[in-house]
Amino acid sequence: MARRIQRGYAAWARVYDWFARATASVGGVRADCVRALDLDAGDAVVEFGCGPGVNVPALREAVGPTGRVIGVDITGAMLERARGLARRRGWENVEFVRGDATRPPVRSADAVLATFVTSLFSDPYAVVSEWCALADSVVVAAFAPRGSRPANAALSAFARLNGRLFDVRGGDPLDQLDARTAATGRALADRMETVSEERYLFGTISMYAGHGPADDRKG
Ligand SMILES: C[S@@+](CC[C@H](N)C(=O)[O-])C[C@H]1O[C@@H](n2cnc3c(N)ncnc32)[C@H](O)[C@@H]1O
Repeated sequence: MARRIQRGYAAWARVYDWFARATASVGGVRADCVRALDLDAGDAVVEFGCGPGVNVPALREAVGPTGRVIGVDITGAMLERARGLARRRGWENVEFVRGDATRPPVRSADAVLATFVTSLFSDPYAVVSEWCALADSVVVAAFAPRGSRPANAALSAFARLNGRLFDVRGGDPLDQLDARTAATGRALADRMETVSEERYLFGTISMYAGHGPADDRKG
């Protein structure tokens, strides 16, 4: 699975970078994710599956010059783009680590963010549960086919087009997206003290924000 993801995203890193930047403000979901992290100046925030670093400017602004932003991604070509961005902007408090978010290479942080990544995991409940042990604040945005019929049709076409990445093996890709996003929400509900959910873009994207002290997890 990891190899399939790396191959898929390596081939599309440049196009994805352009697309994600061009649409970064659409629906306001990325800005809301960063706001929901509730970051303070000086915080350390980890972004799993950071891709080409589209969320990094806002994260960096939220933690200020004394804070740290650590981007983790499994695809070298995505990280190259993220590192190029950091170099061009002269950022010193941002680092990018090649690693697998399902086996986090980071032990602790003040906050964890993941946007449009958890749908790629076969067991998002387990992965997100692990993230909850790392930080007091965990925010995840993921595709969720819970909107209008046309919105679901568009999402279904997108999921079929990316069937190899989402590891869709027959069955309805919408059911799989829904199950994986619901599992993400359940992990946060089971592990964090408080969880909120917001929907975006006609119900096709859910954002879950979980908060609670890392050393006082439920269960
Ligand atoms: C759809 S892109 C999202 C990128 C970024 N979060 C954004 O919102 O633009 C998914 C990213 O997740 C990365 N990814 C997928 N599985 C991963 C894993 N197990 N560990 C780390 N990164 C992963 C891919 O390489 C890709 O860069």
